[in-house]
Amino acid sequence: MSVQLTKDNNTVQLNSGSVIPQIGLGTWRSTGEKDGYNAVLAALKAGYRHIDTAAIYLNEDQVGKAIRDSGIPREEIFVTTKLWGTQHQEPEKALNESLERLGLDYVDLYLMHWPVCLGQNSIKDGNFLCIPQLPNGKRDVIIDSWNFIKTWELMQLLPKDKARNIGVSNFSINNLKDLMASPNFKVVPAVNQIELHPRLPQTELIQWCKEKNIQIEAYSPLGSMDAPILSEPLILDIAKKLNVTPAQVVISWHVQRGYIVLPKSIHANRIESNLQTFVLPEEDFNKISSLSKEKGELRVCNIDWSPFVCFV
Ligand code: A2P
Repeated sequence: MSVQLTKDNNTVQLNSGSVIPQIGLGTWRSTGEKDGYNAVLAALKAGYRHIDTAAIYLNEDQVGKAIRDSGIPREEIFVTTKLWGTQHQEPEKALNESLERLGLDYVDLYLMHWPVCLGQNSIKDGNFLCIPQLPNGKRDVIIDSWNFIKTWELMQLLPKDKARNIGVSNFSINNLKDLMASPNFKVVPAVNQIELHPRLPQTELIQWCKEKNIQIEAYSPLGSMDAPILSEPLILDIAKKLNVTPAQVVISWHVQRGYIVLPKSIHANRIESNLQTFVLPEEDFNKISSLSKEKGELRVCNIDWSPFVCFV
């Protein structure tokens, strides 16, 4: 049995009216000497027009250079970067620093990377792009003097010509409810970027965000490092039966669920094939959707931000 693979050029609309390609290149861990640069250049050559990075990925310089070197007009590429926790109290400064590293005049989307504010006082070398630690070895997480509501208040004031859309990442329903009920809340986040794959299908959060007109973006859509989802027997069986790659099965499942998906690779052949999707037969789609019920949920990006609790 074989299916029709096509280069995916679907787009999704954000609540601001901006249009975003449904598949974007993820660049978390694309941080070798030229991994970020080569991956972004390969992606743009293969037809991607959506690149996702973050200040803490430490590759904004490579990502920006590849975008500039690609020769593709800037306005044809959707670029996202993210505010790191140590700079929650100064998002405009952080945005300007990201733009400087990217070598770009604006980003299409600027996300609060985590709802977690980190302390600057324990940083001794002036480098804010880190996870600062207290003398007792615990992460320096601020919960009394600052919170994500105050961060969002400042993000709402960012100049639109530098951050065309603003959104959040790693927000649970409860944290979104608190944010949206806060007194100075004005701008509904354009997106909530979350870990999302067949072992963590996030069905309730997706539905809740849909009702609020917040687009979902899936990070680690293949299960992140070593792509554990791609070695699930169910995925391997479907890929073999349909004569496609396991990654194409999983990415097509994401696309069919209707949100934005950000597969990461540093290999040009994988980057190219990850953009080729197809319509999964209903039976296979449903089996993948049930995988987490059978095997249990798996969260690969589960950082201990205590005393702040993220996923409640
Ligand atoms: P690599 O960068 O070496 O290609 P996620 O998108 O969930 O973060 O997962 C990315 C992981 O999946 C990376 O380890 C990446 O490795 C791997 N990967 C990405 N695309 C493919 C593919 N088509 N086939 C196999 N592994 C892939």
